[in-house]
Parts: sequence; C-alpha cells; structure tokens
Amino acid sequence: MNKEVSPTRALNGTIKLPPDKSISHRSVMFASLHEGRSVIRNFSSAADPHSTIECMRGLGVTVSKNESTVAVEGVGRDRLQSPEGDLDCGNSGTTMRLLSGIIAGSGVSARLIGDESLSARTMKRIIDPLTEMGAEITAREDDFAPLEISRPGSLKPLHFPLPIPSAQLKSCVLLAGLFGDKQTEVIETLPSRDHTERLLNLTIKKIGDEKHIYSSRTDKVPEQSYRIPNDFSAAAFWLVAGAIHPNAEISLPNVGMNPTRFAALDILKQMGANITVSDEHNEGAEPVADLSVVSSKLHPIEITEEFVPNCIDEIPILMIAMLFADGVSRISGAEELRHKETDRLAAMAKMLEKAGADFTEYEDGFEIRGNPDFVPESTSFNSYHDHRIAMSAAVLSMMGDHPSQIQHAECTAISYPSFWNDLSLLTN
Ligand code: S3P
Repeated sequence: MNKEVSPTRALNGTIKLPPDKSISHRSVMFASLHEGRSVIRNFSSAADPHSTIECMRGLGVTVSKNESTVAVEGVGRDRLQSPEGDLDCGNSGTTMRLLSGIIAGSGVSARLIGDESLSARTMKRIIDPLTEMGAEITAREDDFAPLEISRPGSLKPLHFPLPIPSAQLKSCVLLAGLFGDKQTEVIETLPSRDHTERLLNLTIKKIGDEKHIYSSRTDKVPEQSYRIPNDFSAAAFWLVAGAIHPNAEISLPNVGMNPTRFAALDILKQMGANITVSDEHNEGAEPVADLSVVSSKLHPIEITEEFVPNCIDEIPILMIAMLFADGVSRISGAEELRHKETDRLAAMAKMLEKAGADFTEYEDGFEIRGNPDFVPESTSFNSYHDHRIAMSAAVLSMMGDHPSQIQHAECTAISYPSFWNDLSLLTN
C-alpha cells in the first residue's frame, strides 16, 4: 500500500499514542513465567507484540485479549510445553531474541521462524551465549532464523560482559539465567533499555561504570498486572514533527519516561525544541509523563556512541530534525542501525538523497548540513517495509511543497497501527 502525505498548514491536537512495544512484549513473557494470573492494561495492538502473544500460546500458556486488556494465566518456569508447530516471531527481533532465552532456559524444544526481514537479521549474538549455557541451536548458515533450540544437558550459569549494548541480548541471557540453579551475571558498560531488570526486579550492583545484573531460579517472577505506558519511541515522531513545523501544537499524554529510553527528548531539547514535560508519575515499575511540543527553532547537535543505545530507535526521526537545524549535525557510533528491520542508515541515506538534503553517510553515522528553510523534494519514498523509516518519511513529507508517496505504508502497523489516522487527526 502506498500512502500520500500532503504538506499541511498546521499540526494541532492531542494524540493517544500506542502502548509501549518493548514493555508489551515483556509483560506477556514474564506473566507467563509467573505462577498465577496477571492482567495487563493498555497492551499494544501492534503486530509485533501480537507475535509474542501467539508464541506464548504456542508454549502452552493461556493468553486472552479483550481490546487493550490482556489476561495471562502464568504457568511458572517449569510447565511451559514444547510447541506442536513453529513459533512465528513475524517481524519482531525482540520476540525472537527474548524467547530464545526462555526456551533455552526452560529446556523445551522449539523452532522459531520469522518473516523475510527477521530471517535476514543476525542471531549469532544470542546463539553464542545460549550455546555456552548448554543449549543446542541449529540456525540457517549458523546465524539466521529459522532457529531450532533445545537443551539436552543441564543449564550452565554464565558470566557475560555484553559485547554490544543491546537490551535484546542482555534480556535473552538474563531470561535463560532465570532457570539456572546458580546465578548468571550480565555486565553492561553502556546502559541499554532496562525494562527487563525493572519488571523482573532483578538484583543489580553498580561497580564503577559497570552495571552487573544477576538472575537465577531463586528470583521470584513477579505478577505483571499494571498499565503499560504509551510508547516514547512513537512520541518521538510527533515531537520532531511539532518542532520542525512552523504552525504546530501537539499534546502527548501518558508517555513512558524510562531514562534508558528518552535520550531523544534530551537531544531535541538541546537542539532547542520547545517541549514541555508535566504530570510526572510512576505506573508500576515505569515512570510516565505528559509531553507537549510547539513549533521551534532548531540548532545542530552531535550524537556520539555513548548516547546511541538510549535513542537507538529514534535516530531516523532525529535525522529529520537535523535537516531543519541551523548548522551541521553529526551522528557517530550508530553502526548497530544497519542490523535493524532494514539497514536503517542506508534507508535514511536514500530518503535524504531523494529529498535533496545536504549530507554525508559514514559506515557508523552521518553528517547532516541542516537548513531551517529546507523544503524537501516531493517524491516517492521507499520505506523498505520498515515501520520507523515509513513514519520518518511521513514527517519529512509534511514539510514539502507538494504531496509525497510513502511505499509499503502498511508496515507502520508493526509498532503504531493508528499512525496514519493520527496524522490525519493532527492535520484536520
Ligand atoms: C528492544 C531493544 C532494541 C530496540 C528494539 C526493541 C527491546 O534493540 O532497537 O526496537 O525491546 O529490547 P537492541 O537491544 O538489539 O538494540
């Protein structure tokens, strides 16, 4: 499906953002490992968390969904069942990587499959530690899905300094560790999102710059009955749209404000974005606040490696903000974006080139020579079936002189099913 996006005179309104995708995945997985019922409110209706629900059902867990409320009859750690068919993770890297940890830890046998994009993403990062823990994993070309996972012997604890700052990898190993008699220890130097540690209430020790996180069978898996905050990663599209558009006022209630997720908020504020944060409070283990943004004058910024994990999913939309800043912005240390749903650095380079932007692409980032008067070419943008690329192209298109087309626009349903509706709501 192609979507046409027209330039708009104004962007005004209040948006009910989609519930947080990362927390939605984890809530169902962890509720399944809790013994007893959990009721999760404001659960995402996006395609990725739906894949997780289906996989947990495949492992013998009863999960029911009524609008945005999900009830999970948790079976605990010892009563997951080997599925009869494949577990289909769809487009979702979080589903495949976290679930692999649960399967390896629990000792059930399962085959995990994914769509074309997920089947082209490296799984070596999780195969190596899980194999060290005693799992037997067969993968296509030793690296890619389908993954066949079993654990014939006993589960070995692991001492694991993270080779890359990935929350999916960290969570995978910690989840496998939850099944072990001895403690597994994951050591993180650059902090990545910490929902797993928070929701499982894991033991953490800070030693210098290192964060040591522990999991073992003696950790009680808590009930997961809470209201999921709205997704900061979805909010970021409107924060940028509101900041770059000359006539904008957008309100975004109940947004997740986990400090390991909102680097993009700090970055936009440093760029001069007029963003207000109000009514800060906690929902369960997670901080939440109302955000609003109005038209702003943006200045250039430099994003270096240490900030990347905390804005990993927001880099594409931050690049759109940089196009409208009054100077040269730079991103480095962002090579990991080449391993997302698509090679996001390459996809953004194509988008910027088509839009007529002034930029240089590097292996690990970009230099973007911004201009507050920049008017992007109106054209047809390829999303490469990547939800965050499609939404970034939509925000860019609103700033053109004429309508643009976004190709494969249906992919926004992966994380933000109401994106196109919300866009028309803001422009009407
Ligand atoms: C996620 C972690 C990030 C992020 C992804 C969701 C998670 O991936 O890009 O969209 O929920 O743990 P990495 O941890 O692999 O960087």
